[in-house]
Amino acid sequence: MTTPKRPDGGDAAHDAKPAPISRREFFRGAGITGIAAATAPLAFPAETSAAADGTPEQIHLTWGGDPAGCVVVSWASPAQAVNPRVILEAPNAAPSVIHALQRTYTDGLNGQTVFTYHAKLDGLTADAQYRYAVTADNDARRHESFAATFRTAVRGRLPFRWTSFGDLATPVSSWLMSSPQSRHAVDAVEQFKPLFHLLNGDLCYANVNPAAQPTVWADFGNNVQRSAARRPWMPCPGNHEIEFCNGEQGMNSYLARYALPDNGTRFPGHWYRFQIGSVLFISLAADDVIYQDSGPFHAGPAPLHPAPSTGHAPIAPGTSLYVRGYSAGAQTLWLEATLAAAQQDTSVDWIIVQMHQDALSSSKNGNGSDKGIRETWLPLFDRYGVDLVLCGHDHDYERSWPVRGCNHHVGRDAATGAPVDTCQPQPVMTAEPAAGGFDTSRGTIHLILGGGGTSSPTDVYGVNPLSTSPQAKVITRTNRAVPGPIPGAFVKPGADALEDAIWSARRDAVTGYGIAVFDLDPGVAGGKTSITMRYYHAVGIDLTPSSSYELYDTVLLIKDRRDDSAMAPRT
Ligand SMILES: [Fe+2]
Ligand SMILES: [Fe+2]
Repeated sequence: MTTPKRPDGGDAAHDAKPAPISRREFFRGAGITGIAAATAPLAFPAETSAAADGTPEQIHLTWGGDPAGCVVVSWASPAQAVNPRVILEAPNAAPSVIHALQRTYTDGLNGQTVFTYHAKLDGLTADAQYRYAVTADNDARRHESFAATFRTAVRGRLPFRWTSFGDLATPVSSWLMSSPQSRHAVDAVEQFKPLFHLLNGDLCYANVNPAAQPTVWADFGNNVQRSAARRPWMPCPGNHEIEFCNGEQGMNSYLARYALPDNGTRFPGHWYRFQIGSVLFISLAADDVIYQDSGPFHAGPAPLHPAPSTGHAPIAPGTSLYVRGYSAGAQTLWLEATLAAAQQDTSVDWIIVQMHQDALSSSKNGNGSDKGIRETWLPLFDRYGVDLVLCGHDHDYERSWPVRGCNHHVGRDAATGAPVDTCQPQPVMTAEPAAGGFDTSRGTIHLILGGGGTSSPTDVYGVNPLSTSPQAKVITRTNRAVPGPIPGAFVKPGADALEDAIWSARRDAVTGYGIAVFDLDPGVAGGKTSITMRYYHAVGIDLTPSSSYELYDTVLLIKDRRDDSAMAPRT
């Protein structure tokens, strides 16, 4: 297990170099070389070879703390880069060089060392276009370096667009959970040209391909590059970002690859917030609060043997990495403080939460809803008026009615039928608005957007056989592995409870693939502001790759702006 090869024998880190988006004449020859020569190279260990391949790949952008003024360029290279840097061209200014900081980790299963680089471009002008190039002294394309453009976020109450889906995987079908649809999904983002994209977890499913995790990540990074190098892709971690032997929460790979806004806790990169115009975006790490055990799992019956170079012991059948409660409440404290601050901030009209797992999902062949989120975070969403929650995890589309509060003791045990408290969310309305849109100051709408591009759509939904109304599976307790039918092997139990999904408004049983497109209308002072969400699903049946996306669902959210001094705080 020492060779990070794909099942098809290729090695994506070396044979799948991404095509540059554009090539800039001014970066060629004396321009880029002259800048590099004038800059002191970063110090590297003596063993670094000039022949090592420092060619940038998997290039992607994220917002810094202030999206109107800061963007981070991140990438990886097959070997350690020498003098990794970004050359930034601002309008009417000479190009400037920004050195990148290195993050590295050694995969705990196959022993491959991964090199990633992060250059923070600060002091940018709001709503402005920039050109940049990425290179290093040992960049094989150094004289024709990768170059692209991006746009900074608006500042103040101005319109903008963002998109979202999760559960993307890679286009390399030989990897478990991957599908060609993930290429079309990236193209869909480019088709809608958002300011940025929210990638709500389960990025590439490296952890179900344990012999080659870094190569799966590379295939993912090179697939998303043609969009993520042009506009920030802001991720949250999902259960498939947790990997055996890669750190306390198994997130060494994810954390090495993404430079995300700081949260001031000892868990940088796990959760964060940023604000664009009048919208506060909060990204959470739901593995911290869910009951479901859905991280890496080795079923057996044979042990999983990490490469000898890692020094890690064999992983016994039935082992999973279950991280519920890892922050010991730090994330929830941060969330409440963030929401409380937003309540006092009249520049915030909207609060959008991104997380991977679901509080309200009625997928029948997927995971279902998790009571851990309902208990821990839904009361905060109610108290501070979160408008929208964007999730993945189940590979389908579902929209809830606006919900506030919950009904107790109305669920039943899936096996015995005994009453169970699932904390069933209460809808505040159960019909589409006759005119206007949903006023989300009355209740929070949850969206399942797990249709990025995996090979396992879950767009079959639960139905109560007696009433024929929607029914949801609910996970109300930990589902640790138990012995299965194969001697020596283990299986994970599914959800333990059922409830009537009285909160479910719309489900897409046609296809599990799609993308949500959000357009903010900031409105005018003293008036209303709105967000229009359009969900486009891939045309055709599941597992038939399609580059064609068509409109399936449209929702208008509308509420009062909060910059009128007479306006009451959020409720
Ligand atoms: Fe997933
Ligand atoms: Fe997931």
